[in-house]
Amino acid sequence: MSIVLGIESSCDECSASVVAYEPLAPVKVLSVSTFSQVRIHQPYGGVVPEIASRNHLETVNQMIDSALSDARLKASQLDAIAVTNRPGLVGALLVGVSAAKAMAYALGKPLVPVHHLEGHAVSVFLDQPFPVAQLPLPMLLAVVSGGHTNLYVMRTLPELWPPDFLARSLVGRSRDDAAGEAFDKTAKILGFPYPGGVWIDKTAEGGDPKAFSFPRALPQKATLDFSFSGLKTAVALAAEKLRKEGTLDSRLSDLCASIQEAIVDALLSKIFLAAREHGCRSLAIVGGVAANSRLRARLAAEWQGQQLVIPPLFPKAAYCTDNAAMIAAAGAFRFRQGQLLRETELLSLNAVANPEF
Ligand code: KG4
Ligand code: ZN
Repeated sequence: MSIVLGIESSCDECSASVVAYEPLAPVKVLSVSTFSQVRIHQPYGGVVPEIASRNHLETVNQMIDSALSDARLKASQLDAIAVTNRPGLVGALLVGVSAAKAMAYALGKPLVPVHHLEGHAVSVFLDQPFPVAQLPLPMLLAVVSGGHTNLYVMRTLPELWPPDFLARSLVGRSRDDAAGEAFDKTAKILGFPYPGGVWIDKTAEGGDPKAFSFPRALPQKATLDFSFSGLKTAVALAAEKLRKEGTLDSRLSDLCASIQEAIVDALLSKIFLAAREHGCRSLAIVGGVAANSRLRARLAAEWQGQQLVIPPLFPKAAYCTDNAAMIAAAGAFRFRQGQLLRETELLSLNAVANPEF
């Protein structure tokens, strides 16, 4: 068994977690300690990078201490330390990377750099009841977050992923805004606080998803890419019209339901198309937007019309948005493969703001 501490500080969540990993079993989360900066950034309508870095610096040690004590472990009992080093806000990433480097070097433990999206990708394996070894492959993996809308084809379990898994397995992506960004930007137009996805989700309850007709971009069959940028203008125009008529408040739930439907429609059509084109037998949706209730309901109703042999998999709610358990898990898989940095070589690890894929 491997015991791995993970540290995540790529955006506005400062998180540390300890997981236990045994090959071919779901990764067991022993503890997760997360400080969300959402309230701190809310007055600015989005994440302020400088404020994020400073706050990570104030909280990171506390998160690591609580993760270890909640797991009833001493740092000396860890097999490895994993940290998100790319992509993200570079100042924010550097806080986690520096903490992880200092800890690994001082304790003489290996350090495993983790790509944030690989963390999201493995989040579906955290504390899951399904028998991992029997997962029908290939699996289509949709990472749908505030920063990315990427489709990957997963042909092996993560323990066998090549170092360039993300680059090699990418089959579709958003050409402009991510799906979470589309939720957040349209929510901002309607006056909801940041991050707006969850507000649109809540306000859409009971609304008519057909009340407003918003664009579904790139409907042509040939592409597995997404485009969400046109939605903002359409929503801004509709909201302006309703404001002038004085009916915005009374139509808000119809408006939110229609925005949500446009995003979910676009996601589902490309997800199902990609799954068909690549002969996928299972499907997992991960990332913050995987928490969306309409997306989950539509998937539950529609997956059987596809060639999938098991229902779509989702991470537990706590592992959809940014957290260090997924980073520790991705680190554990890489650690077992020997992809790690030791002793003085770990000191040169850097943070990278924006790698491709
Ligand atoms: O994965 P995540 O925590 O951060 C990134 O790596 O980007 O995703 C955050 C995104 C935000 O855009 C947020 O609005 C969206 O996930 N989100 C939702 C819901 N909960 C979070 N979007 C739609 N419906 C939700 N229930
Ligand atoms: Zn994320």
